[in-house]
Amino acid sequence: MTKPLRIGVAGLGVVGTSLARLLHRQANALAMRAEGPVVLAAYSARSPRPERPEIAAARFWGDAVELAAKADVDVFVELIGGAGGVALAAVKAALGRGLPVVTANKAMLAAHGLELAALSEAHGAPLFYEAAVGGGIPVIKTLRESLAGNAIRRVSGILNGTCNYILSKMETERLPFDVCLAEAQRHGYAEADPTFDVGGFDTAHKLAILASLAFGSKIDAEAVSVEGIESITLDDLVAADELGYRIKLLGVAERTAHGVEQRVHPTMVGKGAPLAQTMGVLNAVSIDGDAVGELTLVGPGAGGDATASAVAADLVDVARGVRLPVFGRPAALLSDADRVPMQRHEGGYYVRLTVVDRPGAMGAIAARFGDRMISLEAIMQKRATKEWAEAGVVPVVLMTHGTTEASIRDALARTLEEGVVREKPQVIRIERDGV
Ligand code: HSE
Repeated sequence: MTKPLRIGVAGLGVVGTSLARLLHRQANALAMRAEGPVVLAAYSARSPRPERPEIAAARFWGDAVELAAKADVDVFVELIGGAGGVALAAVKAALGRGLPVVTANKAMLAAHGLELAALSEAHGAPLFYEAAVGGGIPVIKTLRESLAGNAIRRVSGILNGTCNYILSKMETERLPFDVCLAEAQRHGYAEADPTFDVGGFDTAHKLAILASLAFGSKIDAEAVSVEGIESITLDDLVAADELGYRIKLLGVAERTAHGVEQRVHPTMVGKGAPLAQTMGVLNAVSIDGDAVGELTLVGPGAGGDATASAVAADLVDVARGVRLPVFGRPAALLSDADRVPMQRHEGGYYVRLTVVDRPGAMGAIAARFGDRMISLEAIMQKRATKEWAEAGVVPVVLMTHGTTEASIRDALARTLEEGVVREKPQVIRIERDGV
């Protein structure tokens, strides 16, 4: 056995507490895998926690940045969260003195990943972040190491447990959005601010990280087009079900003829696809590589123990002296992200319209779609409920064959202008089978 690996952890929230327990519970196995004991030597939190046996022997620091800069530790673990502020200052302080860093902070990496990768290289201090994407799923290792022999064509995934939990529960239990969000929060899946989850921003941060690893590009969170799940109704979930689809919040990074698309939006996924079968708080990532073909990793994407599992694996890598470029290649060799405007996206669309119930309304809509060369695959018009009938409207769902985002938006704008459609149309992109 060699000398112990002394860990300094900043943040004792859900993940930090689970990590402390895991290190205690798995002490023997970790000591063998890391070729020396893995010891929680220091921690920072809002207040000391002497009552917890797992951290009783660790030194308390009231200031995370001071811990990162001064504590007598071999690795700094950042579990505070937030794109900047204390988390960023502490990580910079640790890297700046050559201390390896393990973080679960996707928002920080999305905003400052390139700068941190350069700092890590300059000071010879590794930066690991398996827990930042997909919770317990080893997707960072998979892209950075296991698939290094592939040209990646596409990465698509369910990257937010809260959203997947909400959509799954709404669909299976026919419950409204708010009730399902409250349940997710009760289970501790949601971010401090749920807008990060349901607005798609958490997924966007994670997607930006995966896109950088997959395409060897500088992380560019602003290139991600983001839509959340707030507008998804039970009607959409039921219609999707009847048409053979499930609605999932997907993050997709894909090389197209125009560049690399990075997009987060609710998506109709054919029920046979692995991503459609991923329910509840589970996350899943499908990766399409030229040599390996398509593979899908599925597992718990949120929660203390699952996330601590990923942090612990990074700690063992630190103990073993593993050194890898942060985004799979040296920072200086990362290319500029190849942005593609969403208007150029090509694919099928689900459109739900509130159509004015009068002769010729459907004809006018079909004509506007025809003008834009949009071919319809399916049309569903249900008998209006009493409420709809009183308002003089009927709900209509259209499914299109492949077209462009620009054409769909243009056709819909025209139908609104002509007054045959009321309310903002619901537009959900359809992914090809197999994702
Ligand atoms: N709020 C996140 C989720 C936690 O629901 O997936 C993990 O990043």
